[in-house]
Amino acid sequence: MEQRTQIGYLVGGGLKENFRVRLTVSPQEMQEGAFVVIQSGHWNYYGIVTDINLGATDPRFADEQTEVRFPAHIAKALHGQTLYANLEVLPNLMLEVGPELGTPEYKDWQGKIDAGLKDAPRILPVKNIPPHHAVVSLANEGDIAEIFGDPNKESNFVIGHTREQNHPVCIDLDKFVQRSSGVFGATGTGKSFLTRLVLAGLMKHNQAAVLVLDMHNEYGFDDVASDTKKAVKGLKTLFKGGVRCVGLEQEAPSEAIKLTLIWKSQREIFPQVILKRFHVS
Ligand SMILES: Nc1ncnc2c1ncn2[C@@H]1O[C@H](COP(=O)(O)OP(=O)(O)O)[C@@H](O)[C@H]1O
Ligand SMILES: [Mg+2]
Repeated sequence: MEQRTQIGYLVGGGLKENFRVRLTVSPQEMQEGAFVVIQSGHWNYYGIVTDINLGATDPRFADEQTEVRFPAHIAKALHGQTLYANLEVLPNLMLEVGPELGTPEYKDWQGKIDAGLKDAPRILPVKNIPPHHAVVSLANEGDIAEIFGDPNKESNFVIGHTREQNHPVCIDLDKFVQRSSGVFGATGTGKSFLTRLVLAGLMKHNQAAVLVLDMHNEYGFDDVASDTKKAVKGLKTLFKGGVRCVGLEQEAPSEAIKLTLIWKSQREIFPQVILKRFHVS
């Protein structure tokens, strides 16, 4: 497995509050939202960085600009001893990984699972915590695949990539269509982009017929991103005949309909119009 990049070690926290992690790399190498793995004993814990903060063993060391008063090497040594940065990590999931790979203990552990004497490990909600100084690393490609699914599996659709190391993040469309889902976030955080992507995934994988009540005409036709001004392809452009756009006043009929977009109109009686359009009496 690809080596993980170590970023720090556990110094405190718990299940109710988040874990606190002392960074051993520059805080500028980390971003909020990064996926991290805490390795300890037979377990891996998976979490998300929710905050990055600066600390000092004594507030005076943070307040005083020692680099101005002391030679550079002394200031550097002093900073190393007194100033630090911590991550706050929300622990989400844990997975039993067993003893170290290749050891007799691992063979024994795996043997018990194979013989049905022990349940095969699976991802669980976090129910215990690793001890002090457990090693914390950035999640590698294998970890991301373990949590979000293997991008090579047929029903897994890549919806984005991790920001630090560009690992693919998937959703399982088979499972996705079986349950209710919502996309939540403040304005401008990417809800419409994500929704368009998920709709495109459902259509590409021919997973489900989709009816979108698109009250802002966002998904059917080409548009321009409001902030970056980059062109954004509409689903009608991407899937052509597979998408039927139905205005409340107009219609563009086509075969093999995977998606029907009903786009905005001022008409007030739209429930009746929808029923009529879909030939429901
Ligand atoms: N996955 C993404 N990758 C890159 N940029 C994105 C992504 N999602 C959103 N954006 C950028 O953020 C802007 C706002 O996204 P949008 O989906 O319109 O937000 P919302 O619907 O939550 O208000 C877009 O115009 C786009 O430039
Ligand atoms: Mg939006």
